[in-house]
Amino acid sequence: MAGRIVAQGSVWTVGRAGRMLALDHPRAPEIQVTATIIDGRAVAEEIRAELRARVERLRERGLTPGLAFVLVGENPASISYVRSKAQACEDIAIRSETIRQPAETGQEELLALIGRLNADPAWHGVLVQMPLPPHLSEDAVARAIDPEKDVDALNPVNLGLLLRGEPAFLSCTPAGIQQLLLRSGHDPAGKHVVICGRSNIVGKPLAAILMQKRPGANATVTVCHTGTRDLAAITRQADILVAAMGSPRAITADMVREGAVVIDVGNNRVPDASRKSGFRMVGDVDFEAVAEKAAAITPVPGGVGPMTVTMLLWNTVLAAERAAGVEEGRAS
Ligand code: GUN
Repeated sequence: MAGRIVAQGSVWTVGRAGRMLALDHPRAPEIQVTATIIDGRAVAEEIRAELRARVERLRERGLTPGLAFVLVGENPASISYVRSKAQACEDIAIRSETIRQPAETGQEELLALIGRLNADPAWHGVLVQMPLPPHLSEDAVARAIDPEKDVDALNPVNLGLLLRGEPAFLSCTPAGIQQLLLRSGHDPAGKHVVICGRSNIVGKPLAAILMQKRPGANATVTVCHTGTRDLAAITRQADILVAAMGSPRAITADMVREGAVVIDVGNNRVPDASRKSGFRMVGDVDFEAVAEKAAAITPVPGGVGPMTVTMLLWNTVLAAERAAGVEEGRAS
C-alpha cells in the first residue's frame, strides 16, 4: 500500500512497511502513529455503494425499501441523530419518514403507533429513537417492534436468535465492527478477541457475533467488565482488543500487546480549551500511545462511528429483501 489517505480530518501518509504516519494530527508533530489506521469512513462508503446497488435491484422489482423513524419529544441530540439517519437513507434511495410525537405521548398511544407501523407493508424497518421521555418504557417499546422489522436489533428476540446462531438482525455497532475487521484484513477466525464492556447493544451482541461457528467469526471471545480482576493482564492477551466501556482513554499502552488490532467504540466528550466548542471527542483508547504499539487501530472520530448508521441501512435493505424473498446476504 502506498500514497496518502484522508482519515479523521487529518492527512495520513503511508510510511515504510506500509504503516501510517500522521502529518497534521492536531497534536503533531511529536506524535508518530505507527499503526495502520482503519478508516471507518472509507469502509462505510464501500458498503453503501454495495447497498445502493442492492436497493436498485429491489426497485427494479418494484419494491422500495422503507424505514420509519419514531421520534418522541424534543431532545436535540435525538433530533440531530434521526436527521442524519434519514439523510443516510436518502443517500442510498431508501424511503424514510420521521413520525414526530409530543413528549407527553402515552405508553399505549406509542405502542399503538408501533403496531400500525408493524402492520404497514410499506415499512420494512421501524426504529424508535432512544432515549424516550422517562414516563415511557424503552423495554416495552423494544419488545413491541416486530422482530422482522427490528432493523435496530433492540427486540430481545433478535439478540436471542443471534446467540443461537439463527438468522437475526444484528445490532448495528457490533455488525459494523465485524465488517471493519473483515474489510481491513483482520479476520477474527481463530483469534483471541477481548471485549471490554458488556452492554446489551455492543459488548454482548459483539461477543455473540464473533463466537459463532461461521466464516467471518469463529473467534475465541473474552468479555471483560467492571467486575474483572486485573483487566490489563487479560487485555494484553488480545489479538483483537475492543474498547466499549464508555470511559475516556481508559485503555492505555501498557494494556495492549505489541501488534494487536485495537477497535475503539468510545465516543466521549472531553474539555478542550483550545477548541472553539470547548470540547473534543475522544475514544476509550489512549490513541496516540496505543497507536505506537498496535498493528492497526480505529480513530475517533472516523472509525466505528460511521459504520453504525451504515449497518442500519444494511439491515433495512436486508429486511426489504426478505420481504421480497430475494435475500442477498446477512450481516454475519
Ligand atoms: N439513541 C442513540 N443511539 C441509538 C440507536 O442506535 N438506536 C436507537 N433506537 N436510539 C438510539
